[in-house]
Amino acid sequence: MSPEHLRRQFPALQRPDLIYLDNAATTQKPKAVLDAMAQFYTSDNANVHRGAHRLSARATRAFEGARDTLARFINAPQRDSVIFTRGTTEAMNLLASSLGGQVLGPGDTVLIDTWAHHASIVPWQQAAARAGARLCPIPLDASGRLDEAAYQALLAQRPKVVVLTEIANALGARTPLARWLPLAKAVGALTVVDGAQAVGHQAVDVQALGADCYAFSGHKMYGPTGIGVLWGRHELLASLPPYQFGGEMIDQVSFEQSSFNRLPFRFEAGTPAIAEAVGMAAAADWLMAQDRQALAAHESALLARARAGLSAIDGVTLYSAFEDNAGALAFNLTGEHHQDVGIWLDQAGIAVRCGHHCCQPLMAALQVRGTCRVSVAAYNTEAEIGAFVAAMQEMKEFLDDDAQ
Ligand code: ALA
Repeated sequence: MSPEHLRRQFPALQRPDLIYLDNAATTQKPKAVLDAMAQFYTSDNANVHRGAHRLSARATRAFEGARDTLARFINAPQRDSVIFTRGTTEAMNLLASSLGGQVLGPGDTVLIDTWAHHASIVPWQQAAARAGARLCPIPLDASGRLDEAAYQALLAQRPKVVVLTEIANALGARTPLARWLPLAKAVGALTVVDGAQAVGHQAVDVQALGADCYAFSGHKMYGPTGIGVLWGRHELLASLPPYQFGGEMIDQVSFEQSSFNRLPFRFEAGTPAIAEAVGMAAAADWLMAQDRQALAAHESALLARARAGLSAIDGVTLYSAFEDNAGALAFNLTGEHHQDVGIWLDQAGIAVRCGHHCCQPLMAALQVRGTCRVSVAAYNTEAEIGAFVAAMQEMKEFLDDDAQ
């Protein structure tokens, strides 16, 4: 595994003045993805599923081929339960609306973990409110992990739906899905997994995982923005009412009534993001061609170095920074606003994210207004992490001198 070799494939990383450590917000894109999208627009661009002409047939083949690739990427048993969405946010809105509307009733509960992103919390909160149901958070324990005893106690209330974040975007911490999904199933709950932060860091196998639904975004896995995937068990998705209405998702339409198409088109109203689907599939192909375990080991070594470097700086607090974190670490420097730390790092050419990370309930649980988050991808190097730690040390020394 050579990050130097890997990063040569990323045009955006060729500038010398950038250390990009904001990969949990969005990853940079390899040339293979940029080329696939340019190739689509140059040679295949037409609308899909509609035209009588050859170009439309080419576009349809490219788009449906992308679906095949993404089904392979997550080991989906059927290609037509791979639904293209605008991203994880739209996938969660679709599920909360269609699935939530179908299964939730007055007095029901939906469980969700405390490190959930607003994109998971708010759609389910609104679906629960519409149904007269309740959204119940699974709290953190004293160590900063999700509290398993509390989860088991909440499961005893027999929730209708359990929404779990595979890897916390704000923290990099992992939910123990292999243990937790069967517990939810044992009480008859439907399970929804936000895999947005997982797909870029590890191979995903939805059959082995065993959740009912799994959502992820292209742009967190070296692909384009504006495209994502909702996968769901076929019988479940086929039983749900449509989420949006329009072209493509219909079977027959009259002014009196309409009937709806089969999966996956039933959930893909309107002209889809065709080039983006092609780009996302190119990203999946690119990832599948890599040694995923070697990439994960490299990223884990980068995080270990960042964790050790930050821990050695007096006044740094790390949040849920475990050895098995994937992709990210969150921290604060005592007495400094997280945004000021971010500005200091930016002056040093280092991009990190600072704020609540779309996780205000998590920030409340951690009793902070926000944090700084350093997040890595496979193309980051030990030298970049060294420069980040050195910039943090310099900042601390500067502040200590200034205080005297
Ligand atoms: N959800 C993205 C992040 O964590 C935007 O930064």
